[in-house]
This record gives sequence, C-alpha cells and structure tokens, in this order.
Amino acid sequence: MAKVKSIYVCQNCGYENPKWYGKCPQCGEWDTMQEEVRSSEKPKAQAGGIGGGTRGVAQKLSEIETVGEHRYQTGLSEFDRVLGGGIVKGSVVLLTGDPGIGKSTILLQVCQTLGKEEKVLYASGEESPHQIKLRADRLGVTSENLSIMCETDVELIVETIRSQKPDIVIIDSIQTMMLSELSSSAGSITQVRECTNMLLRAAKGLDIPVIIVGHVNKDGNIAGPKVLEHIVDTVLYFEGEKNYSYRILRAAKNRFGSTNEIGVFEMMDLGLRQVENPSKMMLEGRPANSSGSCVACVMEGMRPILAEVQGLATSSNFGNPRRMANGYDFNRLNVILAVLEKRGGYYFSNMDVYLNVIGGIKLFEPAADLSVALSLVSSLKEAVVPDDVLAFGEIGLAGEVRSVGFCEQRVKEAIRLGFHKIIIPKDNLRHLSKETLASAEIIGVQYISQAFQAAL
Ligand code: TYD
Ligand code: MG
Repeated sequence: MAKVKSIYVCQNCGYENPKWYGKCPQCGEWDTMQEEVRSSEKPKAQAGGIGGGTRGVAQKLSEIETVGEHRYQTGLSEFDRVLGGGIVKGSVVLLTGDPGIGKSTILLQVCQTLGKEEKVLYASGEESPHQIKLRADRLGVTSENLSIMCETDVELIVETIRSQKPDIVIIDSIQTMMLSELSSSAGSITQVRECTNMLLRAAKGLDIPVIIVGHVNKDGNIAGPKVLEHIVDTVLYFEGEKNYSYRILRAAKNRFGSTNEIGVFEMMDLGLRQVENPSKMMLEGRPANSSGSCVACVMEGMRPILAEVQGLATSSNFGNPRRMANGYDFNRLNVILAVLEKRGGYYFSNMDVYLNVIGGIKLFEPAADLSVALSLVSSLKEAVVPDDVLAFGEIGLAGEVRSVGFCEQRVKEAIRLGFHKIIIPKDNLRHLSKETLASAEIIGVQYISQAFQAAL
C-alpha cells in the first residue's frame, strides 16, 4: 500500500520541507508554507519520450529526421510576430499578464481565424459558457470549429484532448486547473506545476500546441513556481498601463524564435485592434510649436518607437525644488539636471522640474537622454524645438553625447514619420548608410551644447 506523508511547500518559490516554517528558508517570504499530503506512489506517467522520441534510446543527431516546423497563423500578425511567425505544432505557450489586461480577449480573437481551418478547444476554468458566448458575440467570433469546455479537472481536459484530437488547445487559466489526485487546492504551486506537466505531455505526445493563460502575482511574476517558465517553450507577457488603451505583447522566452519582437495592440470596445504604426499613435495630438517638448526614439525589442518627452521648468516657491519624472527614471533625471548645470550652464537649482513621457510609454533606454535634456532646456529658455526635429543619444557625465545601438533603424523610423532634422551622437554618423544620410538633415553632435545649438 502506498504510504502517505505530509510535506510543506512554499507557495512563492516551491521550496519543500517536511517541517513547517513561518518564513521560507529559500525565498524569505513569510507565511507561504502550506501543507500538502503526498502519497509515496508516483503520479502516473511522470517520465516518457517527448515528441516521438523512443523511450530509453539515444539517437544520433544526423539520424533524426528534419521535419519542417509547422506553424499555425493566428490572423493577428502582431501575435504571430511575437511568437516568431505563428504557433508551432506541439509547443506549449504560456501567456501571462495582469488581471483584466486582455488575455482571454486576445485568445478568443485568435480562435476566430484559427477556427476557420483548425479544430480549437478552449477550456476555461474562469468563465461560464454563457459568459464566453457573450464575449465571443461582442468580438464577432463565430467560428464553427471552436469548442468551449468549462472545466477545471485537467484529467478530463486531457481525456477530451485525446478523444476529440483538436488541432489547438487553449487553457484559461492554469491557476484554476486541478489534478484530483493531489491534495492541495487549485492555484497552489504543486497543482500548477503538475497540471502544466500533464498538459505538456499531452501536447508533446499528440503534437498539439497548447496555449496556457497564467496570472501574475502582485510583484508581476507568474503566480506559481518559477519552474513553470522552464517547462514551457514560450513565455509571453501581455502588458499595459491601466489608464491607456494600448497593450504590448512581449516574449520573455521563445524556443522557436527571437525574444526581441513586440506586438502592439489597442483595446477597443469591440476587442483588441492591432497597431501597425505605434509611433504614429504615440505622437497623435502633439501641440505645434510649443516649448518644452522634444521627440525621442527608443527601441522596444527590434522596433523603434517614437515618443514625445515634455519638460516643464517653473520657478520654485520652496527651498527644496520639486522634481517629478513620469515614464523616465527619476534618478536619471537628476543626473541630467546636474550635467546641464555643470557642463551646459543651465541652472535649474531654483526651479521645479517636471518631466512627462506622453502615451504612458516608459523610456528606460539611455538613448532618450538627449531628448529629455532638450525638452528641459527648451522649457527653461522658452525656446521651441521645431516640430520636425528629433534627437537621441546617451548623455555622459562630462556632457558628451555617446553613441547608441540601432542608429539606422531609429533614423529610418524618424524619417518615415516625417522628421527632417535628426540630431544623433557624432560617433553614430559613420554607421549610417549613404541613402539614409541623404534623406534628411542628420546632425552628429559630440557635446550637449552642440545639440542645443542645432535644435533651439
Ligand atoms: P480579459 O480578456 O477578460 O482580461 P484577462 O483575461 O487578461 O483577465 O479583458 C477584460 C478587460 O478588457 C475588461 O476590463 C474589459 C476590456 N474589454 C474591452 O475593453 N473591450 C472588449 O471588447 C472586451 C472583450 C474587453
Ligand atoms: Mg481571463
């Protein structure tokens, strides 16, 4: 007979111990150890050949047949782009993001195109069939080949997969799924891990791609063990700001493509719309000829995106002037202000300084430094940076403008959106092709003072 023992598992990191601790010895979190009852009998089919491999037999690399990877197109090219060109057969994709960001919405929309040719099984443990139907009606999803299954028992889902043999399976969400042989509750580390493992074996065994929705916890990590990220083939993060309608899809891991691509969407009242021209969206409604504004170009993955940086410097009524940065690093703002004072002779010490990046985008890249400096000086001097001027470059502590990567892509994007005068680091000039150099006025600058001269 199988022995039963009790074990304590940290719900944050997966650490296991026969003894209970108030504070997890591994991750240091308090009150995360939960009791689980384990049988000494191993869960069925823990090990096995994956994806057609013969069990226990090693094959020579040269003897393994090359099979062209088959990818399903989802009809949302931004989604396909992030996946590296579509959903690969037999792959397991984890889609994660904050609650309400649009994970269920995007997957239901994907079902519409996929369902034209392929059989899709959408297993939901979160919503009732009526709720899903309502949403599908709103999104215009009418696909005949789409089956909805509202179930939380993974074994039943896997059984259905085996009997119905769908071409694609969607699981929404893994935190609601349960394996009845485990004693812990749904959403616990063990449940999440074992359910994923079970789905993974089914996916690899039957060569069916599975998209799994995962929630994130309050720190923004995938709720459940970190091991989940190791198990699956692809991890996608769906991100967005609460007050803005645009959403960015990113790959954090991809066994079948690069992680440099991003997809941009906008949440509308009838679902998500692809945004093929994010820069245009970011620059919409820009005031003409106003001081304190300059356009920056940052890379999001392999994609250059333009964003407007606004600076405002007003005389301060307090002994300690205020500094505020929205969408830009606060400490970096202080560094730029110090450099402007010491190396440029622009004094902000009795000024309140506010910096805002329009559109809710965050400029983490140092390449945004130059446009930040320009918008601040523009506000201080009440001088306008003309509307068709764009600047990028990293600012060093000596007041020098240092080169940045992907110069050609940035300049091309700026030209495409109608910018005529582009201020870039001098060292970057030699990386530009002749055609690019000829298609706009491109000014290479070595020090911040040269940039101010050129722009203001
Ligand atoms: P949902 O896909 O349910 O989020 P998740 O599965 O990631 O938790 O998205 C829900 C949000 O999206 C909800 O707050 C309303 C909004 N939404 C729209 O704005 N338009 C739509 O057409 C739909 C379906 C949802
Ligand atoms: Mg959902």
